[in-house]
Amino acid sequence: MPQRYSLSAIILHWAIAALLAFQIAVGWALEHLGARGFSLFQLHKSVGISILALTLLRIAIRYWKPRPPKSEKGWQAMLASTVHFGLYLFMIGAPLTGWALVSTAKVKVPTLIFGVLPLPHLPLPAGAHDLAQGSHGLLAWIGIALFLLHVAGALRHHLLIGDGLIWRMVPARSPILLALLPALVLAAFVLGRAILPAPASTPASAEVASPAPANQSDAAADPANGTEAAAVNAAEPTAAANAVAPPQQDEAAAPAGPPPAWTVQPGGRIGFSIGSDGERIGGTFAKWTARIAMDPDHPESAAIQVVIDMASASVGDAYKDGMLPGEEFFATAAHPTATFTATGAESTGPGRYRARGTLALKGVTKAQTIRFTLSGSGSTRKVSGSATVTRGAFGVGNGDSSGGLAPDVAVDFAFTARRQ
Ligand code: HEM
Ligand code: HEM
Repeated sequence: MPQRYSLSAIILHWAIAALLAFQIAVGWALEHLGARGFSLFQLHKSVGISILALTLLRIAIRYWKPRPPKSEKGWQAMLASTVHFGLYLFMIGAPLTGWALVSTAKVKVPTLIFGVLPLPHLPLPAGAHDLAQGSHGLLAWIGIALFLLHVAGALRHHLLIGDGLIWRMVPARSPILLALLPALVLAAFVLGRAILPAPASTPASAEVASPAPANQSDAAADPANGTEAAAVNAAEPTAAANAVAPPQQDEAAAPAGPPPAWTVQPGGRIGFSIGSDGERIGGTFAKWTARIAMDPDHPESAAIQVVIDMASASVGDAYKDGMLPGEEFFATAAHPTATFTATGAESTGPGRYRARGTLALKGVTKAQTIRFTLSGSGSTRKVSGSATVTRGAFGVGNGDSSGGLAPDVAVDFAFTARRQ
């Protein structure tokens, strides 16, 4: 019988202990971080799944490599075995409940383990979410209680009985190692607290910039809020429709007939960009159609309708693109298209126009203004323009990963139109 655990069992014992301490430190902060903790959520999930893998490896090694014999008999041996068994259940249960809770969340945030390996969502009913979430938090406390019993047992052997049992979990009989290994566990806990994003400064600066982000982060922290806001907004299309500028029929020179229709030539672009934690994320919609009738000299009679296929949005990053169709952003399954409609535009300068219309996006219809310029003459015009969309009004970006996103999305477009 060996005197100590195999080196692989010892390494895994301390590595898993340290990772668990880190997980609990980070986990406790996640709830309060809400949306700002996107990368930390990813890290917590990555480390958690790693713990699951290491624990399964450790259990395999337990049956494969010889272990030292039980040091005691009777109830003490029973207690030690029960605590060890409980610790194994905790090492497996904590990651599984965490995995279950993210798989059943309303806003399904994809997980990329250490930014590389996608973690599939477990096929569980959404109703299991509360149970998974409750057990996840509770298991951490059960784990802490078992850990305290476990350390009390180790100390009892070391200090009261003095049988040297502790050396079975240390690779060599070195007092330095004996001090270092538990210190590693403590250090991992401290590290888990230290890497949290500064709590006060980030939201404060966001609030100074504009009062809107404060509401936004509330909505992000509780996805249900976002949904509610969307429902309320959806009840307002009439107000939005009223905001559309009525065609100004009192212009001096009335147009001769209906405005000419234009077809958009291939190669046009509708793009968007948004501030995200100090950077800008930019993307395009690959598929959209536009119906335009407009006499540049009589913009008041214009009729414009642009339909965008929301599933065609891309920011050039497969991971983020995977998130865009989800509930948190465009919810394309329920709302495949976004439509901008305007009847009537105004001239704001030579070749410059403004159209006040409505945007229907993600089930919400709201007043929306676009500005554009026309250049060229004859039967073709180059059109380029922009719009600022307040994403919160449409419930776009209402979840965990959107906290760092600015409230306004800049939309730009450019295409050539040919008169029919
Ligand atoms: C080995 C294991 C893990 C430990 C010890 C652990 C521990 C914790 C703790 C203590 C919390 C705070 C819970 C609360 O205050 O209610 C937490 C939260 C959380 N954990 Fe874990 N976790 C582990 C693995 C995972 C895994 C594998 C995932 C997902 C794949 C995950 C996802 C989460 C999420 C999303 C939260 C946020 C809180 C919530 O929405 O309730 N955890 N974790
Ligand atoms: C400072 C912290 C810790 C100390 C001093 C410590 C010490 C020990 C010792 C001496 C043993 C061998 C017991 C024996 O041979 O009968 C042991 C085994 C074990 N420890 Fe720890 N430990 C610590 C932390 C942890 C943590 C955090 C966990 C897991 C959550 C853990 C899980 C286990 C398990 C499951 C075993 C049984 C191994 C087996 O027989 O398969 N320990 N620990």
